[in-house]
Amino acid sequence: MSTFSEETRDQRLEGSSHPADKAEEVFERDWLAVFYKVALSISRELDLAKLLWLIMDEVRSALRADRCTVFLLDEERRELWSLAAHGEREIRFPADRGIAGYVLRTGRMLNIPDAYQDPHFYPEIDQKTGYRTRSILTAPLRNRVGEVIGVFQVLNKEGGPFTRVDELLLDAISGLAATQIENAQLYAEQKRFLEGTIEALANTIDARDPLTAGHSKRVALLCVDMAQRLELSEAERETLRIAALLHDFGKIGVRDDILLSKSDRLEPEELIVMRDHPARTRKILEPIRFPKRLRDVPIVASLHHERLDGSGYPDGLKGEEIPFLARILAVADVFDAMTSRRTYREPMHILQVLQQIEAGKGTLYDPRCVEALAGISALRFLEIHTNGQPDFLIPEDHRAALGAVSIGEFARGIGRQGENGVGRLFEHYYRVALQGELADE
Ligand SMILES: [Fe+2]
Repeated sequence: MSTFSEETRDQRLEGSSHPADKAEEVFERDWLAVFYKVALSISRELDLAKLLWLIMDEVRSALRADRCTVFLLDEERRELWSLAAHGEREIRFPADRGIAGYVLRTGRMLNIPDAYQDPHFYPEIDQKTGYRTRSILTAPLRNRVGEVIGVFQVLNKEGGPFTRVDELLLDAISGLAATQIENAQLYAEQKRFLEGTIEALANTIDARDPLTAGHSKRVALLCVDMAQRLELSEAERETLRIAALLHDFGKIGVRDDILLSKSDRLEPEELIVMRDHPARTRKILEPIRFPKRLRDVPIVASLHHERLDGSGYPDGLKGEEIPFLARILAVADVFDAMTSRRTYREPMHILQVLQQIEAGKGTLYDPRCVEALAGISALRFLEIHTNGQPDFLIPEDHRAALGAVSIGEFARGIGRQGENGVGRLFEHYYRVALQGELADE
């Protein structure tokens, strides 16, 4: 066993007696090249799972080893865990066990030529997995302030034990990897926080009116589906999804007697209050400091009642003046509003809704967005429409048939012919879905 955590890197190099260190020039050139490649590759990844895989792959190939695992410390459970290990599923074990536990505790690197001869080796994992560990190189993962946040473990070096060069390389990569892992964890935490906050806000507005409950979520799902066909960038898709979840938030300021009115005709002053909700959405969302790539959320959310010909509100914008994402949201919103029940009317039939939207193509609605809506598969529509109805099940063969036809094709009358027409199948499930909705009352 060799350890060198107290030595400086220069001392390690000078004091090295391993045969692999003799060709120093070759070593330095290779060392730098490998380190540079690994550094470049991992510095670009912020998704924790992908990052861990990437680090493990890079290190495995850099050190010419059979396996590499990153174990992270779960402080609460005092366990070491790996999100994934080469050849295995997630592994968890007490943080004081085995070589990894020893390295975590002491902060010292261990280079073990033969695992089964070492008193720290914890053979239970081999017993569980059937793997045969021979050589092990284990290094602590230290963050910027020097805390050990986990352990790096590389197993079974090709053609013999791990060398001093391997030790140096792993030591250097560990520092870099720990920093990037912490960045990814922080990023994931922020994402979860933002996601939770947005969901809470969306639920708040849906809770105001039980009849429109789920509207924001359905519109968001429709938008995500449409965005796929419109080939939006990831940032645009995310902006659109969040704007869809929050688009009606301004309704929070609309009085109950107006919001829940059973009449389809509002008094002029009531209409003014109701029509103020998109502007209110914007006022509420604008002070939120959305991340830079999502900065258009308030504006997109607040323009969902604008129409191409300028007949919409609040600003009466026309055509290209309306951001494209808002034009998508407008179509998804109107579609869900018409296909769902309102206090003052039953849901309209989907085919009638599609015809009505089609009639407004180019005047009220962006034609590309209408096509993207019509491209939604019948199956996806039913799934979105029945969101929250656990009893609504479609058998696999019917799912395949419904997944192959779009709602636009139904509207054009395709698929309605034939003995076992998929049109009839769709009508059947659509009726069941509507009945489920009515039964929820
Ligand atoms: Fe609205």
